[in-house]
Amino acid sequence: MLNRRAALLAAAAAMTATIAWGPGPAAAADPVKIGLILPMSGPFASTGRQIEAAARLYIQQHGAEVAGRPVELIVRDDTGTADLTKRLAQELVVNDRVAVLAGFGLTPLALSAAPIATQAKVPQVVMAAATATITEASPFIVRTSFTLPQATVPMAQWAAGNGMKKVVTLVSDYGPGIDAEKAFTDEFTAAGGTVDNLRVPLRNPDFSPFLQRVADAGPDALFVFVPSGVGAQFMKQFTERGLARSGIRLIGPGDVTDDDLLNDMGDVALDVVTSQHYSAAHDSPGNKSFVEAFKAANRGMRPNFMAVGGYDGMHLIYEALKTTGGASDGPALVEAMKGMAWESPRGPVSIDPETRDIVQNIYIRKVERVNGELYNVEFETIPAVKDPVKAAKK
Ligand code: PHB
Repeated sequence: MLNRRAALLAAAAAMTATIAWGPGPAAAADPVKIGLILPMSGPFASTGRQIEAAARLYIQQHGAEVAGRPVELIVRDDTGTADLTKRLAQELVVNDRVAVLAGFGLTPLALSAAPIATQAKVPQVVMAAATATITEASPFIVRTSFTLPQATVPMAQWAAGNGMKKVVTLVSDYGPGIDAEKAFTDEFTAAGGTVDNLRVPLRNPDFSPFLQRVADAGPDALFVFVPSGVGAQFMKQFTERGLARSGIRLIGPGDVTDDDLLNDMGDVALDVVTSQHYSAAHDSPGNKSFVEAFKAANRGMRPNFMAVGGYDGMHLIYEALKTTGGASDGPALVEAMKGMAWESPRGPVSIDPETRDIVQNIYIRKVERVNGELYNVEFETIPAVKDPVKAAKK
């Protein structure tokens, strides 16, 4: 009896404490759940592996708690299939009540989840997908990767400024490839060059027939875009078709010489010139410690540009939660993310408050052997580049 009374009293005291504190300690101790949807299997699994590793590293370094709330990461494998991405996003929102959706390894995957982010008013942090229009699919999308036009326009300018007159483009036939093709063609032809366009299917690509056509056309350079994870396969066929020795230079956005695969490509990759926002060889103290910590936590795996998108995405979520004092209300988090600026391993970045895209340096890089390993060595910097597609619409 006494025990029961004591228990009741204790319960009442606890209730009073809860009411008195309002959304204080009890509510504040609720975990903030982040639903990370990634291709963890299938042809784009390297993207999932890199982003998950980066997100876990960020939590390890900054603590599994922010603004008084424990952080819980829920990772789901969408295998690179858009229908599955959408279903997983729905489950994470409805069943797990995640505060943020994040990841999105390919454009169709990011687009499939956008209506759910809008309906549920949950921020969707796009850490990988890079078609320019993605941020227009929902006011809740904020992007920490890049856009293909953002990376490509500087490449076209570099090619035109370095004696190239005739270029063939070869791109994966979907959103980011078409963006890269258009950005390169518009910029390069405006500078007086000529361009032929070829497109190869995204799934199970066979580059050989296209490479034969490139060899026959004999351009100064081949501009190539394939998504992260596919570069090694492309380089193998580029070598087998004899293009490596044909005098046709290889250029493009940096996806083809992705740091995850680059070191295994061999000498064929030497001297390939690309433009992008991240290289593991980026020369800054912040990047050196990022690369070191990432390798140490992942059995020597080198971080690529997907990893940095994931790492910065986590930074954005943590900092937004600090700004809201731990409140995970979706519209408040998105507001907090707009205009945020920080020093990333890639260099200085900010979130454009108007477009929710990332503003960042684009570097022109050349593949070189450094201490026995292949790296994209940056030799020119174009500072604070915005997505040119949205900038042109204004
Ligand atoms: C995309 O599908 O948006 C995408 C995927 C991989 C890349 C770039 C873009 O490397």
